[in-house]
Amino acid sequence: MYEICPETPADEPEVEALYDLCFAPGRTALSSYRLRDGVPKVADLCLVLRADGILLAAIRFWPVRVGGRPVLLLGPIAVHPTAQGEGLGGLLMRDSLARARKLGWDRVLLVGDAPYYGRFGFARLDDVVMPPPTNPARVLGLELRPGAWVDVAGPVTRETLPAAAGISRGAKDLSACVTVDHPKEDSDADQSATGASADQ
Ligand SMILES: CC(C)(COP(=O)(O)OP(=O)(O)OC[C@H]1O[C@@H](n2cnc3c(N)ncnc32)[C@H](O)[C@@H]1OP(=O)(O)O)[C@@H](O)C(=O)NCCC(=O)NCCS
Repeated sequence: MYEICPETPADEPEVEALYDLCFAPGRTALSSYRLRDGVPKVADLCLVLRADGILLAAIRFWPVRVGGRPVLLLGPIAVHPTAQGEGLGGLLMRDSLARARKLGWDRVLLVGDAPYYGRFGFARLDDVVMPPPTNPARVLGLELRPGAWVDVAGPVTRETLPAAAGISRGAKDLSACVTVDHPKEDSDADQSATGASADQ
């Protein structure tokens, strides 16, 4: 049995330790972190997954802008090395994206491997530019509303309006924890993935 909860300040040291374990040293030197510096996380969408109280996975989101439009930047997502490949990453992806839709977000951006994130509906964004150095082929987007990425293009910039981190249009209360049994879903079974690395 797994429990998924919104991340709290008390979770933060464990989540940072998990990211340090899963990513190369110096992860915060990546250009994507410059979009996050000093910007509050989208708290309702930052989730931790535990089994018997032990942190196994975490996902975070930040608000950014593209062409002046609000965009969710997904990441980092990490699953403890002892629990990878069991569907926990997919579980957090699907749960957080469903929450984002309920909260009224329209579009999501990430930097990562299309073979993995394609299974969640992400596709390359040719006209969206992450701060360098970023491989353009790894800049991927997902529409939470049909057409949400149409004509949204240009450089990705930091969010400067604090209220944007709390976009909420008729949102349900998403503060509660949920419990799930085995996360590996049949829908994953016929999807392909390369096992290549993904960015934060
Ligand atoms: C990437 C990660 C979050 C995926 O979570 P997970 O729980 O291990 O993945 P799932 O069990 O949901 O899915 C497993 C599938 O994804 C594939 N996969 C895992 N990591 C992948 C990656 N980085 N790129 C491409 N495919 C990947 C596996 O090959 C497997 O494919 P299959 O279903 O065809 O067998 C996790 O492996 C991880 O924390 N990796 C290290 C940190 C990282 O790279 N984070 C992403 C950057 S934001």
